[in-house]
Amino acid sequence: MGIRYDGKARVFALDTPDSSYRIGIIDEEGFIAHLYYGRRVPDTDLRQILRVGFDPAESFARTGNQVKYAGTLPAEYPAGGTGDFRRPCLTVETVSGARDAVLVYRDHRIYAGKHRMKGLPAVYGTEKECTTLELDCADPVLGLEVTLSYTVFEQLDAIARSVSVRNPGGEPVRLTSVLSACLDMPNRDLDVLTLHGTWSSERMQNRRRLVWGKQGIASLRGISSHEENPFLALLEHTATQTQGQVWAMNLVYSGNFLAEAELSEQDQLRLVMGIHPDGFAWTLAAGECFTAPETVLVYSASGLDGMTHTFHDLYRAHLIRGAYRDKPRPSLVNNWEATYFDFDTDKLLSIARKASESGIEMFVLDDGWFGKRDSDTCSLGDWTVNEQKLPGGLKRLSEEIHRMGMKFGIWMEPEMVSPDSDLYRAHPDYALKTPGRAPALSRHQLVLDLSRREVRDCIYAKIHAVLSSAQIEYVKWDMNRPLTNVWSAELPPDRQGELYHRYVLGVYELQERMLTDFPDLLLENCCSGGGRFDPGMLYYSPQIWTSDNTEAIDRLKIQEGTALVYPLSSMGAHVAACPSHTNSRVTPFATRGLVSLCGCFGYELDLTKLTAEELAEIPGQLRAYAAYGDVFRTGDYYRIASFAENGEYDVLMAVSKDRRRAVLVYVQVLSRQKRPVPVVYPRGLDEQLCYRLSENGEKHSGAGWMHAGLPLPQMKGDFLGRLMVLEAEEEAE
Ligand code: GLA
Repeated sequence: MGIRYDGKARVFALDTPDSSYRIGIIDEEGFIAHLYYGRRVPDTDLRQILRVGFDPAESFARTGNQVKYAGTLPAEYPAGGTGDFRRPCLTVETVSGARDAVLVYRDHRIYAGKHRMKGLPAVYGTEKECTTLELDCADPVLGLEVTLSYTVFEQLDAIARSVSVRNPGGEPVRLTSVLSACLDMPNRDLDVLTLHGTWSSERMQNRRRLVWGKQGIASLRGISSHEENPFLALLEHTATQTQGQVWAMNLVYSGNFLAEAELSEQDQLRLVMGIHPDGFAWTLAAGECFTAPETVLVYSASGLDGMTHTFHDLYRAHLIRGAYRDKPRPSLVNNWEATYFDFDTDKLLSIARKASESGIEMFVLDDGWFGKRDSDTCSLGDWTVNEQKLPGGLKRLSEEIHRMGMKFGIWMEPEMVSPDSDLYRAHPDYALKTPGRAPALSRHQLVLDLSRREVRDCIYAKIHAVLSSAQIEYVKWDMNRPLTNVWSAELPPDRQGELYHRYVLGVYELQERMLTDFPDLLLENCCSGGGRFDPGMLYYSPQIWTSDNTEAIDRLKIQEGTALVYPLSSMGAHVAACPSHTNSRVTPFATRGLVSLCGCFGYELDLTKLTAEELAEIPGQLRAYAAYGDVFRTGDYYRIASFAENGEYDVLMAVSKDRRRAVLVYVQVLSRQKRPVPVVYPRGLDEQLCYRLSENGEKHSGAGWMHAGLPLPQMKGDFLGRLMVLEAEEEAE
């Protein structure tokens, strides 16, 4: 395993437990071809897949000015303009206006471990856990140097890729696209899977046939977005949850992106991912370097289960950081859907008292505690407490909450400014807007120009003051609108194309500063619900608010799509009021509890308005979270039945890593009376062990449960749920 260079064949061999990746230098000039990515193979030199009956060098675009075959050659990192007419990863514009580029091999290094990426989120690993290849290439005409980095994990079928481009000297070069990864392979019968959505309906799975031409997803909203997640997988058409090959890419980034598959007329498939070239241009002056965000590649030969497990294991151990990485997350009550902006200290404390009596561990004060904010029309940017609402400020409230034995957290939206705010009146130029045009408002607010150090310093001083003013253990960092009018007062005209990316770097810098100064803080990112649920954000916050849609049945689909890539431990999931504020549906309190249980558990309703019966259910729900939360947080997740697919019922399952305990969450969305109960087939158990089912005490071997099946319990009515536990006992006969 790891990375080897076969000097004779001039091939780099990257191997993980079940996958292999091959890069070949295929001609005298050093053209770098992509030879293979797929199931583990012992061979190094797989250049037969160049499948040309002619000398591969001939097919290389520049040789003898032959462009004829350039569309067939699998490139490792294609640049544009010299005969490969598919989507290039690197495109440039020189001072003279020339736009073609070609990269050839120069040098390489292989080392144990992985370097951090300065200013950018990225997966990490120790010298024992991973190996890195840095492949230097260059365009001798442009004088540009490009390093392609690949990190291979010893235990996981994942490869992290990134790219940096340097201009060692000479004239400035304008980079018009620097995508993060490319994967060329011969066409086979494949599907494309992405996570599509909208506000309150994020990350719905969208699987379709791959067709000729370009197809893909993108965000141009300045955020990774509710609409498309920066994830794209190619699957064999016959692949299922449990079998078949899957090649997936996930961009560790929180801004504009492009993820595109392209089936060319030469029957070649190209998959690319990175910062969207639209709206992007980066001027690289002499001595400067640009680093594109990291892309994670995952290969699975065991269907979507294998892909999901790799993403979950990688992100839990090699992306998420901080004090809470390996710890249970506190159960919480958040006052947003309980009070919205209409609260005072007494109201908050009455909710907090009920929470503390029920055993909830943290109280979170949402929007409306600062400036004059009694609605969403003002005060973003004025991060000083509203003493009329909260006399004694956050300090007094936090002390009261702590006296009740709970932790205390707050909501902030640091990236924004309301036109009706002291900050905006003092610094109107701090907002993104174009000269001479009234900026587009969304939720009555504007976006701060976080590309500017002065703006970041001003906002960070406010964040620091708030977090130092009281004992605050948790921050919900919100971001409630896309970027528009993207123009900065500080950048020269020819560098405005850098702004989207500089904005994202500014957000990362702010969060990094906050976590450095307050290392014990639990950060939960949020973006009008789940508009920035991406690996970039996970590097800073171990959990993310999954969706503003808190209704349990809609949540089944949202959480299923999210968990396809992101660990259960990263999904904020709260029990909310009924009728639901999102869709008016009425569901039992117990079912709402069950649906939230598999994520970062909490309540988002007015606990003082619950019936005595509902209140009495809370301690039991918290006991279940304490007892089984670890299995969801650290175990292997299996999608057993999907309401999104069958329209009737939903079953998810998590199995502890030692395989001694499995927890199944079953929700019967629509009643199946007068029909036999469905039988489901658990996965991930140890065939040899004997498991006892909590429902009825029935015992079978792991093999018996998995192969003969588990009939779901009979329930009368819609929207009902059950928690079922399979606990290992003695060895089976
Ligand atoms: C966003 C968040 C909500 C809530 C509100 C407050 O919509 O997603 O959870 O915090 O803002 O304004």
